[in-house]
Amino acid sequence: MLDLVTGKVQDESRQGEAYAPFALDPNTYKKHFYIESYGCQMNFADSEIVASILNNAGFGATRNVEEADLIFINTCSIREKAEQTVRKRLTEFRKLKEQKKGMLVGVLGCMAERLKSKFLEEEKLVDMVVGPDAYRTLPGLVEEAESGQKAVNVLLSREETYADIAPVRLDSNGVTAFVSIMRGCNNMCSFCVVPFTRGRERSRDAESIVQECADLFARGYRDVTLLGQNVDSYYYVAPDQEASGTAAPITFGALLEKVALISPLLRVRFSTSHPKDITDEVLHTMARYENICKYIHLPLQSGSSRILQLMNRTYTREWYMAKVDRIREILPGCGISSDIIAGFCTETEEDHQHTLEVMAHSNYDLSYMFIYSERPGTLAQRRYADDVPDEVKKRRLVEIVELQNRLSLESNQRDIGQTFTILIEGDSKRSPDDWMGRSSQNKVVVFPKANVTAQKGEYVTVQITGCTQATLLGVAVEA
Ligand code: 5AD
Ligand code: SF4
Repeated sequence: MLDLVTGKVQDESRQGEAYAPFALDPNTYKKHFYIESYGCQMNFADSEIVASILNNAGFGATRNVEEADLIFINTCSIREKAEQTVRKRLTEFRKLKEQKKGMLVGVLGCMAERLKSKFLEEEKLVDMVVGPDAYRTLPGLVEEAESGQKAVNVLLSREETYADIAPVRLDSNGVTAFVSIMRGCNNMCSFCVVPFTRGRERSRDAESIVQECADLFARGYRDVTLLGQNVDSYYYVAPDQEASGTAAPITFGALLEKVALISPLLRVRFSTSHPKDITDEVLHTMARYENICKYIHLPLQSGSSRILQLMNRTYTREWYMAKVDRIREILPGCGISSDIIAGFCTETEEDHQHTLEVMAHSNYDLSYMFIYSERPGTLAQRRYADDVPDEVKKRRLVEIVELQNRLSLESNQRDIGQTFTILIEGDSKRSPDDWMGRSSQNKVVVFPKANVTAQKGEYVTVQITGCTQATLLGVAVEA
């Protein structure tokens, strides 16, 4: 649900989760780290890479911050609110540190570059500052910090993809996992800080991605989400092929197919798609494989062509709507979700109405909705005035949220009476007597366990009998 004051929505519900792998025996390690993550799925996936690097350096994870020798906070810069939350947490950690001699605190991720001197020198909040491309240097940085120096590495790289690092699955349900396929972003949307905090776009070795997914499948995982800021621009050429002039580039469509071929029992998802880059090749690949989930996250941002141009999104409202129509034509019944920003620079009432219109045309199943938050260093901050008054931004966001709530409810109501193949992810949050799983279209489905022989990680056919705005309710039926 959305908190209208903070602009916090569903995708941030995991904010601040502390992670610790269950499989590891805490007595194996002399020292322990605690890691808390904020922001997007990419950041949560990065924390799993950090955990792997720290494990290999002899540190075990703990869920108990008081037991930790090292505290890390993996930060997000995308909106000002996210930064404020991190700052508050760091102040709390500083208090803990005062009570426990030798405890070290580190800032990881997107806030590192911008706030390194503030955190380290001015406010003396932390001992280590490590940017998203510098995690391999963490063990050395911890040593530096242990010897009393301030340890910093915020260098961004053009190559780093952590391809060879097997992430330690943190707090996992053992069924679903995220797999990073690329890092950074080259798009330069004018509101977005990501190109500055995460650097240039680079694609990870395709073989290492397929290997990681196959390994997850062998360990019982049944649903992988391929992650990137803009997955459709995935493009990989093996360096030896490039050198020998026999380069056979792998596109996102080809990668998707390789992962889908691991097993028909492995569901494949991906996020995020840029409307300008998602191709018919990808849509046809999705149509060909039952196990590629019929769900696309296709951020609109704004439904006004004038605002889209200021945002540097490189498409118009008509172009976007045609893309949605194309998806519906090639993939009938495909779930579509969006990101929407209310109150971008110079947005008028008419622009706002255009956004509502495109939302209605697109009939989104779900949207992540935000108030525009000016970010330092972005094109928008340098070029345009953040001139929509706060009350207006909030009121427009309320209208966007109300429309989306209606669209989500209607979308769920349309599913009543239909049957879907559901992958069971675990107990429902509300009751241990019910299973929770998801449909190919990414909808959460809850149904009674009674008479269901399928277990967690298995598929079951469920007929939908009712719904709320966020959840489908049903009963298991014979396939
Ligand atoms: N203000 C508000 N929302 C933003 N997003 C990115 N930058 C900003 C910003 N400065 C939103 C976009 C993006 C999602 C991840 O966050 O909608 O798709
Ligand atoms: Fe930011 Fe745009 Fe890249 Fe997404 S596609 S990360 S919004 S610059």
